Amino acid sequence: MATTAPPNDLAAFWMPFTDNRGYKANPRMLGRARDMHYWTPDGRQILDGTAGLWCVNAGHCREPITQAIQASAAALDFAPTFQLAHPSVFRLASAIGAMTPAGLDRIFFTNSGSEAVDTALKIALAYHRARGEGQRTRLIGRARAYHGVNFGGTSVGGIVGNRKQFLSLPGVDHLPHTYNRAEQAFTRGQPEWGGHLADALEDLVNLHGPDTIAAVIVEPLAGSTGVLPPPVGYLEKLREITKQRGILLIFDEVITGFGRLGAPFAAQAFGVTPDVIAMAKGLTNGAVPMGAVAAAGFVHDAIVDNAAPGIELFHGYTYSGHPLAAAAGLATLEIYEGEGLFERAAALAAPWADAIHGLRDLPNVIDIRTCGFVAGIEFGASSEGAGVRARKIFHHAFDGGLLVRATGDIIALSPPLICTEAQIGEIADRLRAAILAVG
Ligand SMILES: Cc1ncc(COP(=O)(O)O)c(C=O)c1O
Repeated sequence: MATTAPPNDLAAFWMPFTDNRGYKANPRMLGRARDMHYWTPDGRQILDGTAGLWCVNAGHCREPITQAIQASAAALDFAPTFQLAHPSVFRLASAIGAMTPAGLDRIFFTNSGSEAVDTALKIALAYHRARGEGQRTRLIGRARAYHGVNFGGTSVGGIVGNRKQFLSLPGVDHLPHTYNRAEQAFTRGQPEWGGHLADALEDLVNLHGPDTIAAVIVEPLAGSTGVLPPPVGYLEKLREITKQRGILLIFDEVITGFGRLGAPFAAQAFGVTPDVIAMAKGLTNGAVPMGAVAAAGFVHDAIVDNAAPGIELFHGYTYSGHPLAAAAGLATLEIYEGEGLFERAAALAAPWADAIHGLRDLPNVIDIRTCGFVAGIEFGASSEGAGVRARKIFHHAFDGGLLVRATGDIIALSPPLICTEAQIGEIADRLRAAILAVG
């Protein structure tokens, strides 16, 4: 059956993070995609303002990626990476290690951002245990953080709605989030106010005891809860405290990795190097599911060199380093480099900020945040309830030919890095029309 044929029964697919009843009463479908656009099955063109779901950084259906996947599927459909491997997974690990900050070049493959986060947390626990500090089991996350949906990521995450239906891991605590509208509204880049909020980590260290904490995990820029760039000095302070206290610092770069902020990783964009980076999404341009963890050499060596002969880390997935994903990843990284897409994102940051901040006088806009090639536009809640206004804007924008992302009362934007300045203008124009239509 053609992939663009409309389904005739919507019941069976239990959709993730979706208002299933609302969606199925009024379904919106995507049929095909190319470069900056999607098309609906009936042929309407939709400008992609969100790189799919923050992942298609090189634009859709790029020929070299498609060909690499096809060639891999024909030549090596699957190869285990437990006690065996295949050449392209080693090449991809080296290519990622050449892009990460110096020293973070030991790469563990997963299949998603959620798995990358849980892997990073487990590596942190294994690291301390290998060094004879097995009592360091506490994990510190942050309010308003999204770290995926597995138990570790859900627990260190800071979204009440994502946690309340489930059990959380014990021994987890949270830093306060860094957003304060009164102090930060309508900033471009990093807000000046809020660096001192990192001092809360000292309070948690004092509360729990300095030698009980294994790791602190943060998104360098919180994406899913509405694009919250880190205040000036904040990440530096976290780095300083974690280093002093022997705590590992993990950056969740599932959104910020692969050029979103105009550098390969946010670590480089903000000039702060963590000990471990979790990544996914842009790694394969979204074309095949894949995540990865980049660990500092000293983290890897502590676990691997201290182990008794045999398996050193009892962790891994059947599809870790899957041949199709590895092929897609290699082709994707070649495009990023060959087309200079990270530099392009850096160059687009100023026109992007100008265009998006140009929406600030529209009805109910209470804040706009831009950083690199990402933006969050926040609206006052409507009397119909939290999140309703942004959801309506999302629907109006889609019907007007623009894909945006609604999260709470925030519209988040993160176009593919191949976006032109003219298309930035189109995004702003179509979003303006949708905001005005909703009123
Ligand atoms: C920062 C962050 N971490 C983890 C994840 C989870 O990734 P996945 O949906 O691939 O499991 C996401 C997804 O949006 C994310 O934004």
